[in-house]
Amino acid sequence: MELDKYDQALLNGEYGETKQKMMEILLALGKIYDAERFIEVKSVQVSGASFKTIGDAGLSWLNTLSGKAVVPAFLNPIGMPRDEWQNLGIADDFAKKQLEVNAAYSRLGIRLTCTCTPYYYSIVERGDHLAWSESSAVCYANSVLGARTNREGGPSALASALTGKTPYYGLHIVKNRFPQIEFHIDNPEAAKSWTNAHYGALGVIAGAIAGNKIPLFTEIRPNRDMLKSLGAAMAASGAVALFHVDEITPEARFPLFKQHIEEDKREVIEIGVAEVEELFGDLEADVVAIGCPHLSNDELKQVASLLEGKRVVMPVYIFVAADLKHGNEHYYNTIVRSGAKIVPDTCMVVSPIMDKAGVVMTNSGKAFTYLPGMCGATPLLGTLEECIRVGCGE
Ligand code: F3S
Repeated sequence: MELDKYDQALLNGEYGETKQKMMEILLALGKIYDAERFIEVKSVQVSGASFKTIGDAGLSWLNTLSGKAVVPAFLNPIGMPRDEWQNLGIADDFAKKQLEVNAAYSRLGIRLTCTCTPYYYSIVERGDHLAWSESSAVCYANSVLGARTNREGGPSALASALTGKTPYYGLHIVKNRFPQIEFHIDNPEAAKSWTNAHYGALGVIAGAIAGNKIPLFTEIRPNRDMLKSLGAAMAASGAVALFHVDEITPEARFPLFKQHIEEDKREVIEIGVAEVEELFGDLEADVVAIGCPHLSNDELKQVASLLEGKRVVMPVYIFVAADLKHGNEHYYNTIVRSGAKIVPDTCMVVSPIMDKAGVVMTNSGKAFTYLPGMCGATPLLGTLEECIRVGCGE
């Protein structure tokens, strides 16, 4: 690979042993993927933040590292809220380890944003090069914001945070961002009434078919929150890191893109509205969990308006970034008055809160996919309205 003076100095250990090791990780990655050179990244998002997923081995490794991030770097959800975790039944030994993980990342200059939606709290522009690792955030950044990031692992994202660099390959290169598989919906008219949860269900089906290919959807008109649900689910049931929706997502509106999709041939798959609707179940729920990915402002307002004046009759957890509270205290109060719990900093999958929770009702296609394997829970998919109705015993 072609190295500039800074890359070479990092590799020579002139910036310390940790940054040398980090550059070696990135160089190995660059060689595997035939990258010609490194590029600078504007921001980094680091996964591997919950003690539940990294364990003692990950924590020990983090504690061997030193140095500071040189670009804005955000942390994925951790295994529990940073404050008041005691009220959620988190075991003391887990909490102690999680606090050590938090301290290790903080020491390395990684901001404890603890969210899978860092795009709500940082500026990301079309064409920005990033090194993000949370799969749903990667999908959103590439597809909805038109930024460019590969789906990094925790260590490679951390390496980019500490060096400011990433190898130039994959989705950083425009010619690798065109669609490779096309999905049609058999009844686009019926899809006009779809909710976020329906887009999550569509993502569960499409991601399993697409694998790591780049999908193009036609004839659907999702808003931003629906795109978020769709991408998160495809990143979970498959390994989708970028998708396009004709006329909706930013790159799909480029003349070059339009010309390319007209000329290029790719596999076309039809997905039935009935297939999407079949994923919605009718089991009895034990717990309701909303906020995978973490809620947007609009989603928070919808939850608050559905809970206004009501009382929940079972545990109802709402997962959010801690920063969402600013300016939204009124909606928070409404939700808290209903008895539902707003849980910041963590997520239903990487926290022990949901372990063996029984039947978990959610409006998220991503959670629907991960809850059985990661938490031993039985997932039940419903729309947000249905989740709140069930949570309130209606
Ligand atoms: Fe976020 Fe956890 Fe879902 S990281 S996308 S809330 S599985």
